[in-house]
Amino acid sequence: MGTPAIEVQGLSLGYRSGRYSLTVLDNVSLTVPEGEFLTILGPSGCGKSTLLRVVANLLEPLSGDIRVLGEAPAAIRKKRQTGFVFQDATLLPWRTVRNNVRLPAVVGGRLARPITDDRIDNILALLGLQGLGDRYPNQISGGQRQRVAIARALIDEPRILLMDEPFGALDEITRDRLNDELLNIWRATKTTILFVTHSIEEAVYLGQRIMVLGANPGRILNVRDLKPIKTADNSCHREDPAFVSEIAAQRALLAQAA
Ligand SMILES: Nc1ncnc2c1ncn2[C@@H]1O[C@H](COP(=O)(O)OP(=O)(O)OP(=O)(O)O)[C@@H](O)[C@H]1O
Ligand SMILES: [Mg+2]
Repeated sequence: MGTPAIEVQGLSLGYRSGRYSLTVLDNVSLTVPEGEFLTILGPSGCGKSTLLRVVANLLEPLSGDIRVLGEAPAAIRKKRQTGFVFQDATLLPWRTVRNNVRLPAVVGGRLARPITDDRIDNILALLGLQGLGDRYPNQISGGQRQRVAIARALIDEPRILLMDEPFGALDEITRDRLNDELLNIWRATKTTILFVTHSIEEAVYLGQRIMVLGANPGRILNVRDLKPIKTADNSCHREDPAFVSEIAAQRALLAQAA
């Protein structure tokens, strides 16, 4: 096995400014192999977003070691090898869909390849957004906006994709469809994905492994391998009894987490 995508040893995460100091997650150790799809569950406020922020180098850890693709998170950020999809689509309303997807190229940094209209249209098509490139965010649906945000995170071909409750605001049918689209993208790109969600079903459906964080004190409560209930390409059926009982098991774990 090569260098892990993420390697964390005894990491303490939180917020410090002036005399204010808050430790959110303590003594976190975790190895994520490159190419893995890891889903993350945990009660509100336990530190899920904080963890993603540290991986993306939007926040420094309080202490401990973190390596992303074998390097310091800052180096990886500079090389633009992480993509981030936030809970709200955060599209710029005055830019068209195409120009929102192009945004990472416009905002600083040099890219490996220029972002041409062709490349943008390819990625829009991959996400079922063909023909919408010239519309503005208020002219498309919420689910489509979320997909544009994913397209924008993918346009740099990141080796690590960090997704923070990306489908939380969508109806269940749209969410199920986007889950399958995301799995297809993951299969095609081999990108490592860290995916935070409050939906137990979504976490079990998407992940190869599932991590449950606990609060008070914030920590890793459990990590479970989902490969036994999935096929080799990480797919499963929502009606499969093994899938249903895994959801029940995760629900029981989560009940201890708050
Ligand atoms: N910028 C900040 N400064 C200080 N404290 C913060 C900051 N951002 C978050 N926190 C605190 O850190 C803790 C963890 O927050 P975080 O956003 O990581 O939780 P979360 O697990 O993502 O929750 P949710 O499921 O509600 O999104 C919370 O107690 C929160 O109030
Ligand atoms: Mg959060």
